[in-house]
Amino acid sequence: MPESLTFPADFLWGAATSAYQIEGAVREDGRTPSIWDTFSHTPGRTADGDTGDVAVEHYHRYRDDVALMADLGLNAYRFSVSWSRVQPTGRGPAVQRGLDFYRRLVDELLGKGIKPALTLYHWDLPQELEDAGGWPARETAYRFAEYAGFVAEALGDRVESWITLNEPWCSAFLGYGSGVHAPGRTDPAAALQAAHHLNLAHGLGTQALRAALPARARVAVSLNSSVVRAVSESPADLDARRRIDNLANGVFHGPMLHGAYPADLLTDTARVTDWSFVQDGDLAAAHQPLDALGLNYYTPALVSAAHDEPGSPRADGHGASEHSPWPGSDDVAFHQTPGDRTEMGWTIDPTGLHELIMRYSREAPGLPLYVTENGAAYDDKPDAEGRVHDPERIAYLHGHLAAVRRAITDGADVRGYYLWSLMDNFEWSYGYGKRFGAVYVDYETQARVPKSSAHWYAAVAAAGELPL
Ligand code: NOJ
Repeated sequence: MPESLTFPADFLWGAATSAYQIEGAVREDGRTPSIWDTFSHTPGRTADGDTGDVAVEHYHRYRDDVALMADLGLNAYRFSVSWSRVQPTGRGPAVQRGLDFYRRLVDELLGKGIKPALTLYHWDLPQELEDAGGWPARETAYRFAEYAGFVAEALGDRVESWITLNEPWCSAFLGYGSGVHAPGRTDPAAALQAAHHLNLAHGLGTQALRAALPARARVAVSLNSSVVRAVSESPADLDARRRIDNLANGVFHGPMLHGAYPADLLTDTARVTDWSFVQDGDLAAAHQPLDALGLNYYTPALVSAAHDEPGSPRADGHGASEHSPWPGSDDVAFHQTPGDRTEMGWTIDPTGLHELIMRYSREAPGLPLYVTENGAAYDDKPDAEGRVHDPERIAYLHGHLAAVRRAITDGADVRGYYLWSLMDNFEWSYGYGKRFGAVYVDYETQARVPKSSAHWYAAVAAAGELPL
């Protein structure tokens, strides 16, 4: 029996963050509000009224944060660019000061031997574009492509890994369907329209990146594809699974990977929309050759036909709302998967990560895969000596890294893993109450304290192997 699981020698051991969750400095250097500034400043939208105004001050502390990554021996870092810093109103010329921040950040990373992976859109649409219609408006996709081109021109000489969108499912269905994310709209037809324009934005954005980037650059997208399971093999439950799988996965995999929406997605949602917003050429535009795929995984979903109570769309783990994020699926019930849960209430199930990786391998044969997010929130607190012990997070990471390794053994081409998150940060509508970091942040002093999981992860990364 081996005593450890060895990973490929060139495996990327990374951590991930996003702009609005860590940067703060929301009014500096020409930045104007994004939809998350507006949303978090609207009473009742986030826990305790928390906002990203200050966050973890990464905008000013980025050098120390990169030094911390280097101390932990990470060789990769995934971050996002704030569109509102680079093109404050979502139109017009790029702002040099905004771009300069990301150049300084990238130079710092490269200087420490850390490979940057740049996400262009992690949910923070410039507010002016929302005022003009947001993602349900077709024009937003063209604005995104222009913005992508600006960032590529400014950083293409130093960043090789590019990610167009982060979890477009959340942007469309939590932003415009259940309304638990910015901009907080609750219109199922608008949510599907947003999904389509995100697909288009991904395609047009990829074209803009290709036009501006050197040939060695690699373009990917990070999807939160769901592992959807049914409570039974009954035809009604299997049909509920099929429909949710289409709304979670097919709605993006279809256009981006295969150039078409699943036919049954269109018929299943016919009561909600006639999809007339899909124009000739859109699906070809969305279907761009990619160099890699990013997958973000936290927990599986368990569904049944709604007559199998208990369960309701609210139990899907995406935050409380009277409005379902699943258009046309009020007759589907969501159930809590059995097993231990994290502080988010999400069941811990590494088999889901293995399943997801194997599915991507089949659906996108030949494309290198990256786990661009995986991690857990726990109620971490420093002890009397100021140390933060988080054995549950170590167990979570251990289980999921073992699942990645098993997928590699089973033939999947997984090239890297980015832990979510490098450090505690603004967890969207949950505010600062949910801590996902491997590094603890004292929000009073902004002190960073690596948790025991950070030291554990550093040791795994250094050895390139997971102890059994
Ligand atoms: C996915 C998102 O990309 C990230 O922003 C979020 O903080 C984590 N999941 C945890 O919920």
